[in-house]
Amino acid sequence: MKYLIAANWKMHKTCAETLDYLDKFLPSVKDILNVEIMIAPPFTALSSASIRLDAAKKEGEFNVKLGAQNMYFEEKGAFTGEISPIMLNELNIDYVILGHSERRHIFKEKDELINKKMYSAIEHGIRPILCVGETIEEREQGITLNVIENQIRKGLAGIEKDMPYIDIAYEPVWAIGTGKTATPEQAEEVHRFIRSLINEMSKGNDDKTRILYGGSVKPENATDLIKQENINGFLVGSASLDPEKFYKIIINS
Ligand code: G3P
Repeated sequence: MKYLIAANWKMHKTCAETLDYLDKFLPSVKDILNVEIMIAPPFTALSSASIRLDAAKKEGEFNVKLGAQNMYFEEKGAFTGEISPIMLNELNIDYVILGHSERRHIFKEKDELINKKMYSAIEHGIRPILCVGETIEEREQGITLNVIENQIRKGLAGIEKDMPYIDIAYEPVWAIGTGKTATPEQAEEVHRFIRSLINEMSKGNDDKTRILYGGSVKPENATDLIKQENINGFLVGSASLDPEKFYKIIINS
């Protein structure tokens, strides 16, 4: 499988800043075809970024894809502030990040809502990345794998057969934005568990599903993490806001 190195910009970068970033970043990754690269800017920048990437594709082989940081599951309706899958389809958005810990812990999104969003993304041909991860309290209580299993079983309920069309990101909440990256051994333990779980849930049909690690990934720790058997890529936050740092993470992966 081709590994995925994805950037989650969260609530950073205006349209102008996004275009400035892409002007610096795209030429540096033009010939990198051994991994898939995805950038998830804020919703307001998706249209401009989509147009910019289309222009880049006309200049030759290109594998930078666009992602949304969230979406609602309905196609249209009275859902103030939400973005629908057909709005993302119009912009040729390839990926959507769902169930990010900030959606779960700040905006109180529950597994059942995340599951509906997963189903809708697949239905609309947008590849969802299901984010899972434990808090430091859950880790200290020794229930990390129970938490991860619960999030995955509930997030994928009814769509186990669609395993080839999704990716998963393990993002320990205590490593997000803290600079405290999980050790390669800590990450591999959970990734190995996730791999065995989705293999069982999909009856062996999980070979196209990548398990990404996210949580303070930096150019300095990317190589040791990506060496782990069950880490198939990264979901990068802070370090991806700097085009040079994100480029270094990509070439170190
Ligand atoms: O979705 C990726 C993000 O949560 C990781 O953030 O800043 O720890 O790389 P960061």
